[in-house]
Order: sequence, then C-alpha cells, then structure tokens
Amino acid sequence: MGQPTHARNTDWWRSAVIYQVYVRSFADGDGDGVGDLAGVRARLPYLAELGVDALWFNPWYLSPMKDGGYDVADYRAVDPAFGTLAEAEKLIAEARELGIRTIVDVVPNHVSDQHAWFRAALAAGPGSPERELFHFRPGRGAQGQLPPNDWPSQFVGSTGPVWTRLPDGDWYLHLFTPEQPDLNWAHPAVRREHEDILRFWFDRGVAGVRIDSAALLAKDPDLPDLGEGRDLAGGRDPHPFVDREELHGIYRSWRAVADEYDGVFVGEVWLPDPERFARYLRPDELHTAFNFSFLACPWDAASLRTSIDTTLAEHAPVGAPATWVLCNHDVTRTVTRYGREDTGFDFATKAFGTPTDLALGTRRARAAALLSLALPGAVYVYQGEELGLPEVDIPLDRIQDPMYLRSGGTAPGRDGCRVPLPWAAGEPYAGFGSHEEPWLPQPADWPSYAVDRQQTDPDSMLHLYREAIRLRPRFGDGPLTWLPASEGVLSFTRANGADGAVCVVNLATAPAELPAHTRLLLASGPLDHRGRLPQDTAVWLRV
Ligand code: NOJ
Repeated sequence: MGQPTHARNTDWWRSAVIYQVYVRSFADGDGDGVGDLAGVRARLPYLAELGVDALWFNPWYLSPMKDGGYDVADYRAVDPAFGTLAEAEKLIAEARELGIRTIVDVVPNHVSDQHAWFRAALAAGPGSPERELFHFRPGRGAQGQLPPNDWPSQFVGSTGPVWTRLPDGDWYLHLFTPEQPDLNWAHPAVRREHEDILRFWFDRGVAGVRIDSAALLAKDPDLPDLGEGRDLAGGRDPHPFVDREELHGIYRSWRAVADEYDGVFVGEVWLPDPERFARYLRPDELHTAFNFSFLACPWDAASLRTSIDTTLAEHAPVGAPATWVLCNHDVTRTVTRYGREDTGFDFATKAFGTPTDLALGTRRARAAALLSLALPGAVYVYQGEELGLPEVDIPLDRIQDPMYLRSGGTAPGRDGCRVPLPWAAGEPYAGFGSHEEPWLPQPADWPSYAVDRQQTDPDSMLHLYREAIRLRPRFGDGPLTWLPASEGVLSFTRANGADGAVCVVNLATAPAELPAHTRLLLASGPLDHRGRLPQDTAVWLRV
C-alpha cells in the first residue's frame, strides 16, 4: 500500500503499478448486471491489498455505450449505469486515502453522436458554424453519393466506411463507428473545451489522464485520399490523419494545464516507429505512453530482449520512463495469447476458434508477470490479469462490441477480455454482485478463478501478483543491465552496486542453472529437482 511519504512524491508515475479498471465488468454494486462505481468503492481494500499505486478507469462518463463508453455524450457527468459525479468524487478521495491515485480516460478524437455539440450540428444544417466543430463534407460523384475520401476504418476488420451521409446530403467523418463523430481539432473551441475538461477532472482530484487514440486527433484540413498501398501507421511523410505535427502543439498546451496540478498523462499512441513514438514523450509533452510493442511481442527470448532494448533506447533521449503492458480491454488476454501458436498480438489475425493451451499460456503469463514487474518504468495490470483470467468465447448473440458487429461477424472483437470478474466462487454470477445475468455472460468455469479461492491458495496467480508488487522495490531504481545467460534465457539486474535483485526468465527448452544468489525471492513456478529453472519459468533472486 502507498505510504504517506510516497504519496507526496510527484514522480510516482515513473515506477508505478497502475491497475486498469473496466468499470462495467469490475464489480456490480447495485445488482443490475452492470459494474459500477459503488462496486469499485466496495473493492478498494482488495486493490490496496494488491498493492497498486493508481487506478486507470476506462471512460465512466454519460454515454449511449455504443463503444463501451468511448462514445462520450457529456464529459462532466457520470453515466447513471455507473453512478453519479458525487460518487466519482468520493471514490477518488477514498482511493487516495488508501494511497491509490486515480487516472481518468479522455477521448479527444471523437464524441458520441448524442453529445450536445453533434446534435446541434445536425440541427443547424450544412454550412453552419456548428458543423465546423466536426468534419462535415459534401460527397463525391454527380449526386454527392460517394464518401468524400477513401480513409479506412480504425476498427480493423470493419466493413463500413468512415463517412456517414445525412438526409440533408452532408457526410460526416468517424474513424470508428458512425456513433463516434470525429472532432475538428483545427477549431479553437475544440481545444478550449478539452483543456477545460482536463481542469474539471484535475479539480476533482484525479492524478492523471489517459488519452484515447492520441495520435489520431489532427487531420489534414483538405482530407485528401490516403491513396493505394499507403500504410496506416503514420511515419515521416505527413499522413492525412495519423501522427501529424499539429498534435505536438496540442499536447504542449495540455501539459501546461497538467503541470498546474502535478497531473500526468499516458497516451494511447500506437506507432511502430520508435523515434516517432518518442516525440510524444518530450519533456513538455506527455509523461508516458503505452508500450504496445511489448504488448504485441511474441513469447520468445530474442524478440522480448529486442523489444525491451528498443523501448529503453527510445525513451532514454527524452528522459521519459517506459511502460510495460501485457494486455488491456482491447486485446486478447495474456494467458490465452501465450497459449497459442502465435504468441504475438495483432488485431488483423485475431480469429474465432484459435486452438489454445491454457496451462502453457498460464505458465508463461506467470513468468511474464515477473519479467514486466522487474523492468524499469511503470507497469499496467488489466483487471483480471492478476487472476489469470483467460479470453472467453462469448456466444455470438451476446457480443456487444462494435468491432465484431461492424466486421460482418468475422472479427471476434474485444468482449472476450471484458467478462465480469469472479469474486466469490459460491455466489451467483461468481460474486460479481448482480441479481440478474451480467451484461456479458460468464463461462461455467469462472468460479474456479474467483478471488476468494485464489486468496487462500499460495500458488495462485493472485498470490504471485501480490508478492511481486510487494517485492518489486527490491530491484532498486537503477538502469537495466543484462547479465550473461545461455540462449533463450533473459537475465538482468538493476542494481547499481553489488547488492540487489536479479530477474531470470527461461524461455529455452532446457532447464537453466541459476546464477549465484543468497536468496530466492519469488518464483513463477517450481524449480526442477536439481534446483534449475525450467522452461517458461521466471525467478527473482537476491544477490
Ligand atoms: C481505443 C480504446 O481503447 C478502444 O476501446 C476504443 O474502441 C477506441 N480507442 C475508440 O475510442
């Protein structure tokens, strides 16, 4: 649990363990089948015991929930399904008393089609100033019957266009669903409004803000075609909507707001080019950004080592700490991903019916937990990761994710990692708290993962996470140094002097000899009868 001295530390985010709360699926306080703030408040002691420093909440604002709350109708209101603004304020304060900070999620690229601005824009008609807050355009073709450009949807696998035509003839841009119209970031009112939203939440005591789709806000004002064969990832040539130069000016002014509050940012920046990525982390821009290359990295020693080295090298020149992320509410759960033939992550290859060895995946996920919690920087833990929850095959008629719905049923979408958490094995709906079936169905074996079962089992994933978070400071705060190790074995320390901890992860088939040590601090699985480290196992050693 955070101590008062630690609580005053304005650098807490450089090495924090941050727990991601997907409110809809965390705990149901009022029994209606949907997780809520009352549920989170009741479970704060659990989070304090886990030892996390901060909570990142996926959007809890008023929303028609066409994309799990990433379609925001009003940033200054909490959705009634989750609670009230007063409850959010209480939650922020109660968490803080337990030494836990709060990070909210802001979605600047788009709003809900039910947002007051978009409704006003629809009502005001073509050519109106209200429409200038969005990207409205006439269509192409003789009757304007064709979309204004060729941009593809940001939902991989989505069949629909990113433009929707209104009865009055205008088309509007939405990189995601039609219910998420993109804002026009060249308009000063859009910038003013978001700085005001930041202040609104910082004034309520939040310590940080996660920025959704952070590299997509700015658009080429001419909205030109992307053209054939152009990659979507951004890059050095100006791209019409990815990673544009204007973004850096936007985030510099956001940083000035955050600095007034000692607030911090974490950007959702999916960019393959490490140098382009690092530009968002310059000292007067974002504090941190999610490390998606680590998240997508296959379970392979050489790839992981390269990913870690690249991450550290790209962050060093800008002085920003790395983040280590194994999964989140958008991607395949870790134990499932690591139990498949392809252990990397890519939306484009995610498919129904992929064979999975969960025992293998779980063994690797345990080792990966020790690996990521030993690395220098901040670590994100997605709710249920500490329980080893697998990805769930949701019955097709129950899937709500627009990524599935808009793919014509071909992309599995993301609901499989959003299943309501199991808290108590013997209770209805595994203790999620609902009196009726939760918004997503839980599979039959869900009680076996329940918190109350794992709490009494020293070999559980929950125990491993608690112990790892408790022991993590033993690594100190030095830079990473690789230690000699045989092929397929990762071994490193962060000790500046002789005294410190070593993390060893064996990804090779043969068991690995452990380096000389004075104590075994923690192991992700049993050593073999000769005290060697078996495949897919990690240890923390005191040396
Ligand atoms: C990224 C979020 O994590 C995802 O859940 C959402 O669908 C898109 N951005 C659009 O807001």
